[in-house]
Amino acid sequence: MDFALLSTVNPALVPADALIIAMTTQGLTPTGLALDEASAGQLSAALKAANFEAKLGQTVSLYRLNNISCPVIVVVGAGDSKEFNGRALQKVAAQAYKALNSKMQAAYSFLSELTVTDRTATQVISDIARSTLEVDYRFDQFKSKKNETNNITMTLVVGDELANATGQTALSWGQAVATGQSFARDLGNLPPNICHPSYLAEQATALAKGQRKLSVDVLGEKDMEKLGMGAFLAVSKGSEQEGKLIVMNYTGGKKGEKPVVLVGKGITFDTGGISIKPAAGMDEMKFDMCGAASVFGVMKGILAAKLPINVVCVVAAAENMPSGRATRPSDIVTTMSGQTVEILNTDAEGRLVLCDALTYVKKYDPAIVIDIATLTGACVVALGKVVSGLFSPSDSLANDILQAGEQSNDRAWRMPVLPDYQELLDSPFADIGNIGGPNGGAITAACFLARFTKDYTWAHLDIAGTAWLSGAQKGATGRPVPLLMQYLQHRVTG
Ligand code: BES
Ligand code: MN
Ligand code: ZN
Repeated sequence: MDFALLSTVNPALVPADALIIAMTTQGLTPTGLALDEASAGQLSAALKAANFEAKLGQTVSLYRLNNISCPVIVVVGAGDSKEFNGRALQKVAAQAYKALNSKMQAAYSFLSELTVTDRTATQVISDIARSTLEVDYRFDQFKSKKNETNNITMTLVVGDELANATGQTALSWGQAVATGQSFARDLGNLPPNICHPSYLAEQATALAKGQRKLSVDVLGEKDMEKLGMGAFLAVSKGSEQEGKLIVMNYTGGKKGEKPVVLVGKGITFDTGGISIKPAAGMDEMKFDMCGAASVFGVMKGILAAKLPINVVCVVAAAENMPSGRATRPSDIVTTMSGQTVEILNTDAEGRLVLCDALTYVKKYDPAIVIDIATLTGACVVALGKVVSGLFSPSDSLANDILQAGEQSNDRAWRMPVLPDYQELLDSPFADIGNIGGPNGGAITAACFLARFTKDYTWAHLDIAGTAWLSGAQKGATGRPVPLLMQYLQHRVTG
């Protein structure tokens, strides 16, 4: 699908397959009123007959109204206009798109007429594009029968002040975020027999092809041995697949400007290792590389948006398997930082690959570091699948990330990383154990990482609940790509 921007039009004369208009509980928007007038009240009569209440996300399609050239009018409920915020807009845009059919070639959307309480007019354009593309996403490459492809062009009617370069920039931004998010979803949804560490490394190389500002470096297990990454290797050694540390270095910003460093957990399948997981639902552990996928998604989005910023993306890619070479519970390893770890549970592997990656990134002299990981089941227990867990000793970084989450409808919620929890990680035999007992599991996992991130400003996003959906809608969400893109944009524009 594609988008276009247009200034004012006479909605009754638009040559399209469908018009999309909104209605709040307060009434129709100006375009709705104009169409009602053109059809001599037929539009409002039809809405009344359909008992349309304008509840948020409710849709109704009206066909062939008098004196209106377009055969289909999709009316989307926006709820109370006083409460119409960015989240509501996302819902409205998504429902509107779902009401169209795949045969349509052209739709005109008048949704940007809505006033959104917590969004600027340009953000509204970005959000409509992103939310629409999010619904348009399909993952059918392993189905013999593919979904019908949609060749629709959605024209956003935005008025004179935005049918220009400013509006186009906003539209492109929304599309860039969606492109990154879709890429993250694709990588997350791929089966683990295809998407293994070397596959991820190839994706990085493919991203960098023809890109002057992006360079890629892939470290194999031998390289990591030289660096003393004993924790990472303790995870990857149980697998036939070689572990990889993938570095994507994007230099879109000023020379000498310290980079933002993003580190993604890329466990391409998490069996638990010798501390093996129960069978039920284990298939979902293919999503244990969704932190890595989000980091790839952000890099793709940055390239699409040509963001003037320096960003280093690092992916700690390994497969957590039981085997004759696998780590045993009670094995002790030395991390790249020099700290020793007693591995008490091989299923707490995310923190092991991450701690060495987090030590490694010091060499980039980062402005800030954010790691993104499907780290703990405890985080899902605490926060469900609505918000990502945010952990950071820095109030200012935490607040910036929370704000980016609000602005992108990809919310996070702050949790503590207080030193008081550190003693739960004590080990009788090594500097630190890799598990912290039954209580506060998401927090003790963050506290483990905190021991490796003291030399820079750091935040950790636990996306165990938000990275994918289960049940009938099973699939990767592409979160937190929107949050991270928003954060980076904010760093650029202030
Ligand atoms: N990848 C899992 C965390 C996870 C579990 C994410 C379920 C989403 C849904 C992680 O590697 C893990 O196994 N964590 C353990 C830690 C425990 C052994 C301390 C967990 O959460 O149970
Ligand atoms: Mn695990
Ligand atoms: Zn895991």
